[in-house]
Amino acid sequence: MYLQRRNRILRTNASIRSLVAETILTPNDFIAPLFIDEGENVKTEIASMQGYYRNSLDNTIAEVKELWGLGIKSVLLFIKCKDEWKDNTGKEAWNKNGLMQRSIKAIKDAVPDMIVMTDVALDPYSSYGHDGIVKDGEIVNDETVEALVKMSVSHAEAGADFVAPSDMMDGRIGAIREALEQNNFRKVGIMSYSAKYASCFYGPFRDALDSAPGFGDKKTYQMNYANRTEAIKETLMDIEEGADIVMVKPAMAYLDIIREIKNTVEVPVSAYHVSGEYAMIKAAAKMGWLDENKAIVESLTSIKRAGADLIATYFAKSAVQLLQGH
Ligand code: PBG
Repeated sequence: MYLQRRNRILRTNASIRSLVAETILTPNDFIAPLFIDEGENVKTEIASMQGYYRNSLDNTIAEVKELWGLGIKSVLLFIKCKDEWKDNTGKEAWNKNGLMQRSIKAIKDAVPDMIVMTDVALDPYSSYGHDGIVKDGEIVNDETVEALVKMSVSHAEAGADFVAPSDMMDGRIGAIREALEQNNFRKVGIMSYSAKYASCFYGPFRDALDSAPGFGDKKTYQMNYANRTEAIKETLMDIEEGADIVMVKPAMAYLDIIREIKNTVEVPVSAYHVSGEYAMIKAAAKMGWLDENKAIVESLTSIKRAGADLIATYFAKSAVQLLQGH
C-alpha cells in the first residue's frame, strides 16, 4: 500500500510526540485557590474535596511558601467567615482587621512576589449565603455593587495585587475600577469572573466555606448554561469597564466558551476548574475507576488547549509536582 501522508509518523515515539506537542503546561499557568480559616494550626479536610484543606493563616503561609518553591506565581484567597459575623450587609467583608485583610498582608509579607488575588462577593459573609444583599427575596444589584466596591478597596489597602469579583452583578467592574482609581490604587488589577454560569459544580466549594444559599438559587445573577452569546456580551462589557483578566467558569463543561472568548478578546483569559470538577476526579480515582494523575494532566491540558492563559485549579500543586516528575 502506498500512502502520500502518514500522520502516525509524528506519533511514533515519546520524543517526536514531545517535539510536536502544541500545548505544554507550566507552573506559570496556574492559580492556586486557598481556603483560609480562623485559629492556629488548623487544617481541616473538606469532606467533598478529599485531599484539599481549609487552613489557618499560619499553615496557609507555609503552603504559600511551598507553592512559590514549586514555581506557582499566584494564589486566589477565600476565607471562611464565622456565622456570628454574617449578616445581610456582608460588612465583615470590608473589616480592616478581617481574616481576608490579615491574610493578604501576611502572605505579601512572607512571599512578596506571589501574586495575591482575592475573591470579591458577599456569599461567605452573607447570612443568606447569596453573593449580594437580599431585599424582599431578591438579590439587589446596585446596593450590592456599593458593598463590593468597599470590599475591593479594603483588599487593595491590605495589599492585594488583583481583586476577583465572582458575583455577576451588573456594572461592578466599572464601579470597582473607578473606586480603585479614586483611592490611588493604580497598580491593582481586576480579574473578572465575567462568564460565570449557575452551575451545580460549585457544590463542594459551598461545603468548604459553609456558604450555600439559604433560599433559592443563583440563577438571577449567574448565567444560564444554555447560553453562549451571553458569555461574549458579559465578557466584552467587563473589558470595557476595566477588567484586566477575564474568566470562564466552570472549565471542563465550558471549553467551547473558553475558545470562543479567547478568539474574541485581547486580554488574558482564565478558566476556573471548579470544586465539583476536582471532586469528580478524586471520587472516580478513589473508586479505582480513573488514574488520578493522568486525569489531572489531561483535564488541565484540555483547558489550556481550549484557550485558557491561566487556570485556577485545586490541582495546581499536584499538577506542578507531576510535571516535575515527582
Ligand atoms: C463565590 C464563589 C463561588 C466559587 C468561587 N467564588 C461559589 C458560588 O458562586 O456559588 C466557586 C468555586 C468552586 O466551586 O470551586 N461567589
